[in-house]
Amino acid sequence: MKLVIVFGTRPEFIKFSPLIKEGAKKQLNFLLVHTGQHYSPKLDEIFFKELCLPRPQYNLDVGSGTDAFQTAQILLKIEKIFLAEQPDLVLVYGDTNSTLASALAASKLHLPVAHLEAGLRSFDREMPEEINRVLVDHLADYLFAPTVEAKKNLLNEGINKKKIFVSGNLIVDVLYQNLKTLDQKSKILTQLNLKRKKYFLVTAHRQENVDHPEKLASILKALLALNKKYNLPIIYPLHPRTRKRIKEFGLIIPRQLRILEPLGYFDFLNLEKNALLILTDSGGIQEESCVLKVPCVTLRENTERPETLKIKSNVLVGVSPKRILNGVSFMLQRKRNWPNPFGDGRSAQTILNIIEDLI
Ligand code: UD1
Ligand code: UDP
Repeated sequence: MKLVIVFGTRPEFIKFSPLIKEGAKKQLNFLLVHTGQHYSPKLDEIFFKELCLPRPQYNLDVGSGTDAFQTAQILLKIEKIFLAEQPDLVLVYGDTNSTLASALAASKLHLPVAHLEAGLRSFDREMPEEINRVLVDHLADYLFAPTVEAKKNLLNEGINKKKIFVSGNLIVDVLYQNLKTLDQKSKILTQLNLKRKKYFLVTAHRQENVDHPEKLASILKALLALNKKYNLPIIYPLHPRTRKRIKEFGLIIPRQLRILEPLGYFDFLNLEKNALLILTDSGGIQEESCVLKVPCVTLRENTERPETLKIKSNVLVGVSPKRILNGVSFMLQRKRNWPNPFGDGRSAQTILNIIEDLI
């Protein structure tokens, strides 16, 4: 059985890591294809080192560009690899351009496709991720939905229930695997002179936010107001998209914010675990904060992770300073006793057992 894993961005490297480890234990024949969508060492190499990922057999080196450029480049390049390798199954994760292009190329060659993290919906087609995930779900032969809610979305769109498996989210596997040894692996709190639960952690990188000057300016304004209100450090590791846009739009980063380069997984997880509260527009961070029982304020108007809203580990506030401050104040009063809806940390095993039965 030859399995091809295609990945290309930070969250895909992280979330595929437990599956690759579990596959190695089972001595499965995995071939790794890196699309090259992310390539800066801090978005790419660092995760291979930290999470002990094997070197991919192929790197398509597509780099940055518009959504169409990236998708088209991956399509053209990956078809050749699929034709040469003739895999029994192509595994893709989530909702990036790498996910869509590789699923589409495989599907046109009649190669079976498994979509991990299937069935998530924000119902907002303004986001490139929503378009990607809907298309991939309809192309895939096997859909691994992290939760029952995600499965329901797939059933509502008429996808055959025989193709859908509820498997939990691999993010819980990665998180549990690394949490125990985190104190040895990361000294970021000491390095930044931070005290537990005495700082806010921020990330914002989504196109629908940072590609709009007024929205990005509003986020920066809100963070300054947050610093003034609570007089606590605000730690913000900046995604290269956001850095580029701040420069392009001529925005000034308030000096009160502590801007960092993107961090490795161990340092970032450590900062998440010990934060008073996290503000983000990331998908994965809404999940991680929920599992870590750290309150989350999401700088968006919708989320494809509604489980977090239901249990109130997370609140949606958009980008206006007033709503952000209200959201923070609401979440700070919230008891951190919500359940974890994303699985028991054994998703990799569950998914691979199912795949072994299917193929
Ligand atoms: C992509 C995903 C998004 C995901 C994010 C994870 C799509 C449509 N979006 O967004 O869902 O949340 O990855 O972080 O697939 N850049 C670098 N170095 C890199 C990569 C990018 O400097 O290694 C800069 C480039 O200027 C590039 C910009 O970041 O234009 C955006 O990168 P891109 O891969 O297009 O999308 P992301 O915003 O990273
Ligand atoms: N992450 C990281 N370093 C950072 C910011 C995030 O390791 O500086 C990790 C984070 O722990 C999570 C993942 O990257 O597992 C989320 O990726 P991102 O926010 O880029 O993408 P999204 O989840 O929104 O697609």
